[in-house]
Amino acid sequence: MSEDRDVKTILVCGGAGYIGSHTVLELVRQSHAKIIVLDNLSTGYPHSIPKNDRVSFIKGDINDADFIDKQVFSKHQIDAVMVRFSITHLQF
Ligand SMILES: NC(=O)c1ccc[n+]([C@@H]2O[C@H](COP(=O)([O-])OP(=O)(O)OC[C@H]3O[C@@H](n4cnc5c(N)ncnc54)[C@H](O)[C@@H]3O)[C@@H](O)[C@H]2O)c1
Repeated sequence: MSEDRDVKTILVCGGAGYIGSHTVLELVRQSHAKIIVLDNLSTGYPHSIPKNDRVSFIKGDINDADFIDKQVFSKHQIDAVMVRFSITHLQF
């Protein structure tokens, strides 16, 4: 992913889960990006999130638009978003 140097901050939704935590691990290994994990911990665990200076954690639910706006997108410049849980966890 060395060609992705322009991507500075990646939001990984569900990053405390099985697939999400492995995604975070590979992003740490293969990119220079800062990674923000957003997870409501409904099935994930904080200890699953890889420990690294470039990785931070926000506990929250992606369905809470007000929270996401105020605590994520208003506070951070997000360049890319990855969702690592089932679409059945989304409310439309
Ligand atoms: N585990 C596998 O082997 C596997 C294989 C193929 C596909 N998948 C698919 O990958 C996806 C993730 O699977 P997994 O095994 O990592 O599941 P998981 O339950 O371990 O991870 C999902 C994560 O998303 C979080 N989450 C759920 N709803 C949320 C919400 N509304 N807001 C914020 N965070 C939320 C959970 O707390 C959890 O940490 C699923 O769609 C699954 O079907 C998994």
